[in-house]
Amino acid sequence: MKIENKKIMAIIGTHRKRGLVSSLAEKIFEGAKEKGYSTELINLYDYNINYCIGCWSCAKSGKCFQNDDFELIFNKMKESDVIIIGSPVYWGNISGIMKNFFDRHTGYAMKIPPNMNECYKMSTWSKLKTGISALKNFGPKKEFENKEFILIIAATIPFKHLMGDVPNTLKAMKTYVKKLNGKLVDTLIFNDTLFKFKKKKEVKMMNKAYKIGKSLKNNIYTQEG
Ligand SMILES: Cc1cc2nc3c(=O)[nH]c(=O)nc-3n(C[C@H](O)[C@H](O)[C@H](O)COP(=O)(O)O)c2cc1C
Repeated sequence: MKIENKKIMAIIGTHRKRGLVSSLAEKIFEGAKEKGYSTELINLYDYNINYCIGCWSCAKSGKCFQNDDFELIFNKMKESDVIIIGSPVYWGNISGIMKNFFDRHTGYAMKIPPNMNECYKMSTWSKLKTGISALKNFGPKKEFENKEFILIIAATIPFKHLMGDVPNTLKAMKTYVKKLNGKLVDTLIFNDTLFKFKKKKEVKMMNKAYKIGKSLKNNIYTQEG
């Protein structure tokens, strides 16, 4: 019997490569590597991903007509056992580059009625008929069912439960995981405060991140040869 390697990847939506989100993801990797996981960090700023233009051509084909780097990343996600999604809070929500990345999942990760782009000109009755016939096939595809997701959020405003910024960001990320039918296993929220105890807090969070990586399971066994 041999232990088969599992893979953890992180998709990061911040340009700050030594910033909080990236550092926390690297710490999770450190623990995960000790459990035999292979790791890959994707910084969305290193890739070319165009905006969704809302044409719904993906409803028919299951993929976007735009030839860019989205599909490459999406395929890497399908091959991973655990996926980290990391974003700073920008204007009380996920960063723009992360939102654009989410938008582009539409045809790839969701089953959509193929005539979606014609819906707007249909009568109410035709819309209802289309909706009902599509209902049984509508919703997330199976690729990400029970795939494990870990969320990382970094913000500046410290009162995370009083201000809307972190909850809104968390909601956007949770919605994404839910739409993919994924399994949310851990969430790290870090406030980049101006206070003196920041360094102590940072060490604590980094330790937590390491522990998350270290507590990942790697228990797939396959027959040798
Ligand atoms: C354009 C922009 C918008 C921001 N908006 C918010 C915000 O609404 N709330 C907040 O708490 N922090 C906000 N921040 C601060 C970042 O979330 C914070 O510095 C975070 O730690 C950066 O993470 P990183 O180091 O991984 O890039 C903003 C930063 C930038 C650059």
